[in-house]
Amino acid sequence: MKLLVTGGCGFIGSNFIRLMLAKHPDWSIVNLDLLTYAGNRLNLADLEENESRYTFVQGDIRDRELVLDLLDSSVDAVVNFAAESHVDRSINDPSPFVDTNVGGAQNMMECARQRRIGRFVHVSTDEVYGTLGRDGKFTERTPLAPNSPYSASKAGADLMARAYFETYGFPVVVTRCSNNYGPYQFPEKLIPLMFLNACADKPLPVYGNGMNVRDWIYVDDHCTGVELALTKGLEGDVYNFGGDAEKTNLEVVKTVLAQLGKPESLISFVKDRPGHDLRYAMDFSHARRELGFAPSLDFTHGMQRTIQWYQDNPEWLKKVQSGEYRTFMTSWYEER
Ligand code: NAD
Ligand code: TYD
Repeated sequence: MKLLVTGGCGFIGSNFIRLMLAKHPDWSIVNLDLLTYAGNRLNLADLEENESRYTFVQGDIRDRELVLDLLDSSVDAVVNFAAESHVDRSINDPSPFVDTNVGGAQNMMECARQRRIGRFVHVSTDEVYGTLGRDGKFTERTPLAPNSPYSASKAGADLMARAYFETYGFPVVVTRCSNNYGPYQFPEKLIPLMFLNACADKPLPVYGNGMNVRDWIYVDDHCTGVELALTKGLEGDVYNFGGDAEKTNLEVVKTVLAQLGKPESLISFVKDRPGHDLRYAMDFSHARRELGFAPSLDFTHGMQRTIQWYQDNPEWLKKVQSGEYRTFMTSWYEER
């Protein structure tokens, strides 16, 4: 199978490409990535050097001509990971989120439709459902009720996917996953940011009272879910994936501190994120039943593996903290 993967230089995309090429000797992958601040070509530098089944193309998912060119008759399927992905940045400026997450996704679907590509997996998120109270879980039938510009833009693309299926019979499958963690996650997200700050004995900024709950999944388990959606998913269907690991942010931060042997006195409660969703939890029984999906790594072991990876890769961390990274981090956290 030949795949066009978008956003493959980001966190989940790079883990997906690495895992799929290792698992499937007969697959080849073209990775289309714009290399925004979040994209890092180095994440897959070893594959670029040594793997003939991997090709990198720098470019924009909004570029109609380029995408049509890449979708030649040898491409069997598309997996669309490319997105602006950080909620806090979407609060600062929603525009790039609409441009890439809605416009870019629609351009990818349109090009794939014109080229009659047989399968298109659109990678979405649990955040499109909005927030839960203390009880219950999101199912695929939960109404979409996004609360941040990020999640609203992701919901926009989900609805576009639905419309492409209903209107054109476009062979799209949508996946919605909970919060991922693991190697190569950009250090503006909770776990790698807390790792960096704890290592430097700097305060760990916890929004509000730290009681917001996320359902954490190790990145390889999400990638396996996407693989299952790609190979077994029903056209027009939506699949929830989760890790069965609901944790408050405070629990997550304390886990990072404990693994590093750092004191809890580093925790610093800061001004809450506006529109901060209280709780996410996924009912993934549909994916379990239809695709055979189940998370394989529990939170304790997943966190050990993740923290170990960050400890083993200080050069990677140093390289991704560019000037742009520092500018955003300084202005965002100064206000808190
Ligand atoms: P990320 O920010 O680490 O990576 C995004 C990648 O997309 C980067 O390599 C970036 O360069 C690329 N990109 C951005 N705009 C582009 C454009 N216009 N054209 C081409 N490439 C572009 O994000 P991630 O955490 O790896 O998330 C990947 C996908 O999974 C996103 O669609 C996100 O919404 C979804 N998702 C993420 C999580 C999570 O916990 N991180 C959970 C569920 C779903
Ligand atoms: P994040 O990693 O940004 O993912 P998302 O907003 O997509 O769930 O944040 C995870 C949780 O951690 C979320 O409830 C916000 C919280 N958080 C903090 O408390 N402090 C921080 O510095 C960051 C980045 C996040």
